[in-house]
Amino acid sequence: MNTIENFIENKGYMIIEHSPNGYSNCYIAKKNSTFYFIKYINDRRRNKKAIIDILTEVSKIKHKNILNIEDILVLDENNIFCIYKHIKSQTLNKYIKSNYYHTYDKKFYRLKKILIKIAKAIDFLHKNKIIHSDIIGANILINERYNPIIIDFDFALKTKKQKNIEKNIDVLSFKTMVLQIIFEQFFIEENYKDYLENDIIQKKDFIIPRLKKCQNKHFKNCKQFIKYLFKK
Ligand SMILES: Nc1ncnc2c1ncn2[C@@H]1O[C@H](COP(=O)(O)OP(=O)(O)OP(=O)(O)O)[C@@H](O)[C@H]1O
Ligand SMILES: [Mg+2]
Repeated sequence: MNTIENFIENKGYMIIEHSPNGYSNCYIAKKNSTFYFIKYINDRRRNKKAIIDILTEVSKIKHKNILNIEDILVLDENNIFCIYKHIKSQTLNKYIKSNYYHTYDKKFYRLKKILIKIAKAIDFLHKNKIIHSDIIGANILINERYNPIIIDFDFALKTKKQKNIEKNIDVLSFKTMVLQIIFEQFFIEENYKDYLENDIIQKKDFIIPRLKKCQNKHFKNCKQFIKYLFKK
């Protein structure tokens, strides 16, 4: 066992899996019969004190759609570990590719429910003066109950004021992510050709008019955008 694994195990976490899904800086571990997801942060280019400070701020946030930080372990100034509960889940990107067509519904009802929860969670972070700064489909997990959970606070920032322009970083990336997801629904694969006709109708009647309305409009928060996008 190397120094890092020794350190983790000495803290009471029994390592079950190394590099889950190919993520070489992560471990799955067990402590008191609970499974944890351990992320090893050792990016030498970045200021470790700043990372610890922001992760400490994020660990105070309690919200059902934001991954709770259980603990932050510091081995030395270059080696930090962030401990989360392990969530049985897939990323939003994978969920869209693998499941969405099986639950196809014309006006995106199911997807809309998920997106509204994500929007509210991002707005909640902003109310607590935290900017996520990396809102992408790979940083949102969908759990077994189809609830979204925002993860990966490695690039998060703390702002001083509540009315800040930095939150536009998240509002714009959320907007881009949502529009990409919705457009992706039209890249029909062979397996889904039955849906082709529906998709064409949907694109013309439902999506295009909405996208046009959203293009040049400024949204002050994520919820405002998603409500506007899906407005009847
Ligand atoms: N608590 C968790 N439970 C289960 N899986 C998780 C959890 N946290 C993260 N993951 C999985 O690990 C992946 C990587 O996590 P994360 O996004 O935090 O790291 P990352 O910094 O993006 O990693 P890299 O930069 O190496 O791509 C996620 O996309 C997700 O699949
Ligand atoms: Mg990530």
